[in-house]
Amino acid sequence: MTRDGREAPALWDLDADYRHLNHGSFGAVPTAVLAHQVEQREQMERNPVRWFSTLASRIGGLRADVAARLDVPAADLVLVANASAGASIMFRTLAGRGPVHVLVTDHGYGAVSMGAERLARETGGTCTTLPIPLDASDAEVEALVGRHLASRQTDLLVIDQVTSATARRLPAAELTRLAHRHGALVLVDGAHAPGALEDPVVREADVWIGNLHKFWCAPRGTAVLVRNNPDLDLFPLVDSWGGHEPFPDRFDHQGTVDITAWFSAAFAHDHLAEQFGWDAIRRHGAQLMQRAEQEIGAALQAAGVADPVADVGHGFGPMRLFRLPGTRAWDHDSVDALRVPFMDATGCIAAFTEFHGEGFLRLSAAPYTTAADITAMATTAIPILAGLTGHRTFERTAS
Ligand SMILES: Cc1ncc(COP(=O)(O)O)c(C=O)c1O
Repeated sequence: MTRDGREAPALWDLDADYRHLNHGSFGAVPTAVLAHQVEQREQMERNPVRWFSTLASRIGGLRADVAARLDVPAADLVLVANASAGASIMFRTLAGRGPVHVLVTDHGYGAVSMGAERLARETGGTCTTLPIPLDASDAEVEALVGRHLASRQTDLLVIDQVTSATARRLPAAELTRLAHRHGALVLVDGAHAPGALEDPVVREADVWIGNLHKFWCAPRGTAVLVRNNPDLDLFPLVDSWGGHEPFPDRFDHQGTVDITAWFSAAFAHDHLAEQFGWDAIRRHGAQLMQRAEQEIGAALQAAGVADPVADVGHGFGPMRLFRLPGTRAWDHDSVDALRVPFMDATGCIAAFTEFHGEGFLRLSAAPYTTAADITAMATTAIPILAGLTGHRTFERTAS
């Protein structure tokens, strides 16, 4: 419920024929935030010359607005289109530095890890993928990374603050301090962190990136990059008239693109703060996922999964990882391909991920997620999922 007693889902315009339990993949934008963005777009269309002529100075202002809400200096923060773009900015900066030896983990986000591999390849360096057991504790993760750093030259550590495929936290600040002791730079990928964690920015990291279009609920195409290491001379991916300006001002020039989404980022934050309060949102997400552990865990057990709730070592409040029924081996593409057939067959929306050949159901909660969504997932969707994953015969439902 909102503070003034309205049902939370009424603040979004999500298709009511479905149970939405995958906020984590692409977010969902409240209608008031979309309306705010439409107002920005209308201003742009009413007088494009005025809009674009004054854009750079106004981006400077909105950077300050977003930085204040993340409690970082505006001089350290720039807006970018998404977390992937933020990672590419870091990689491009290091591309001129000679052989770059990169360390990523097997929990890393595929697109970002591919960029890290390319950086290593193109600079004549190496890219090592460090295996970290799914259920490793923070101390075990630190020991594994520490052992690698002590034995192999590492110039860049890329670490996820919240992992995508395995829905777990990694001790990003501690790993950053460790990597710094071994002379490595650190990129922390905090794609899921803004809105979901109380203080998301890892200030130790040389560069930290986070999406505002996930749990923060800004319109898509809104992410931030925070540079804590002033020795890194970062440039936007697309050259612009800001090319001769210092960081961060050079990022305020974007050429001719529609960045009205950025102008709704602070509004999105304040809208949810006003309607629910961010602490209440985080509490709600964690409580629903505890309920999911019980109800969906029991439903999966009934479908033959012996140990349905995956132990991920250090969990992330609004997300949970469950084992899939059946014994088949999965890869990223085959498990991802479950998403639409599952949605069509069950009316429930979830993410499906893979780690070391094992398939997982990943659920996430947002303010619009209800206990009834969890119950529907448990009672109607999980029995059908068992058919979809090859455990039972697949049955298509009417709705
Ligand atoms: C850990 C992580 N990094 C990067 C990304 C990429 O985000 P985007 O598609 O917004 O660039 C995601 C997306 O879910 C993610 O989970």
